[in-house]
Amino acid sequence: MSKRAVADQLLDRLRVTAAQTSEKGAIPRRTLPAAGRRRAADFSALPEYQALRVQRAAADMLKIEMPLFRMHERRAADTTVVDGRHAVNFSTYDYLALNGDPRVTAAAKEAIDRYGTSVGASRPTAGERPIYRELEAALARLHGTEDAVCFVSGHATNVTVIGCLLGKKDVILADALSHNSILEGVKLSGATSLLFPHNDFDALENLLREHRPRHRRALIAVEGLYSMDGDVPDMRRLLAIKRRHDAWLMVDEAHSDGVLGERGRGIAEEQGIDPTEVEIWMGTLSKAFASTGGYIAASRPLIEFLKLQAPGFLYSVGLPPAMAGAAIAALKILDQEPSRVAALRANGALFLQRARAAGLDVGGSIGASVVPVMTGDTLTTVVLANRLLDQGLYVVPIIFPAVGEKQGRLRFFITARHTAQQIETAIDLTARELSRLRREMPVAYGLAQAGN
Ligand SMILES: Cc1ncc(COP(=O)(O)O)c(C=O)c1O
Repeated sequence: MSKRAVADQLLDRLRVTAAQTSEKGAIPRRTLPAAGRRRAADFSALPEYQALRVQRAAADMLKIEMPLFRMHERRAADTTVVDGRHAVNFSTYDYLALNGDPRVTAAAKEAIDRYGTSVGASRPTAGERPIYRELEAALARLHGTEDAVCFVSGHATNVTVIGCLLGKKDVILADALSHNSILEGVKLSGATSLLFPHNDFDALENLLREHRPRHRRALIAVEGLYSMDGDVPDMRRLLAIKRRHDAWLMVDEAHSDGVLGERGRGIAEEQGIDPTEVEIWMGTLSKAFASTGGYIAASRPLIEFLKLQAPGFLYSVGLPPAMAGAAIAALKILDQEPSRVAALRANGALFLQRARAAGLDVGGSIGASVVPVMTGDTLTTVVLANRLLDQGLYVVPIIFPAVGEKQGRLRFFITARHTAQQIETAIDLTARELSRLRREMPVAYGLAQAGN
């Protein structure tokens, strides 16, 4: 039987299962409220909700454990305990191994002792505390900018900042692989939204040539290191393009802070560009800095503007003191111990080199904090991740819609704490299980080949 035919058969099975599931009533039917009695809306009747149930039913039929919301029973580091299973862990953003560092923990506790667990108000009203100024000064130093401002969430930072800076008369050109928070910000702004193919700056320039003259402002949005692919943009080219077309440049450093450059100062340090040429540096405290929250580092007027105009800052509570304290301590450690960055980069390079030698497809990753191993279709990706966990390796499968439909992958987050042995074992296991799976599951493999 051809691969296509086998694939079609699998899809038919999924469709039949979906139909059976609804016939059996596994998907709750809408029940009418008794006459005269008011009831809240029945969300189980929403087609969007039913689609989720069908997905779950299909996974149950194929006896596939869904890899979502797995329970970690302790602080996850280079190892973890997932649903009772001990595993080597490649699923944490803790790139510099600072989560749980006694200095970071002590700083968080000290901030709680001094300010409590909440500042109890938005910062412009009654929530301003000295700890924020200290954090923002450290973030401005990290990026070499005049000032910085922090927000309660990284995601909200992108949404609110893009949403309030750009409007209907403007155009935003975002890399097609931009994080959801950037795209949500673009939607909120109401600006003309254009996605250019990933890292394709010829395409970006063509779009600018065509659309820039018709708009008041233009913003180019990229990431310093892409969260799903682990590759980076060419900043010199971007700077030249933004200058030529009078556009602003925004760089999201969520996965490059603490990672790129000798001292972990991000893509500007890595590629030797002047950071003040970039209008907006965005970052999160939730990754290398072992905390939670987001920030913008930029010129003084822009920071002043955001503090008075960005709704996600103005109408939202200040960052919890513990999170500000933890991030300040993490930034100090980054300053004092650049060896952590070197250890992370050595681990990333080792991972990349071993993965390639084992014949794994790591896409365009540069081998820093994020290295994907491409697996193709959803079924292969999920089953592979489950089998690896059974054998003591925890890595998160990334599937549609987080990435394109046939672009499933295992996303390995590398940290400074991983040992060479953990990396080598992870590669060996992944390569062995992936080729075994492809032999055992010609259906899944056929789907991946047909679609890619
Ligand atoms: C590129 C990028 N930007 C922004 C965010 C949002 O950050 P946070 O999770 O800290 O809200 C993420 C989260 O993973 C991200 O990968």
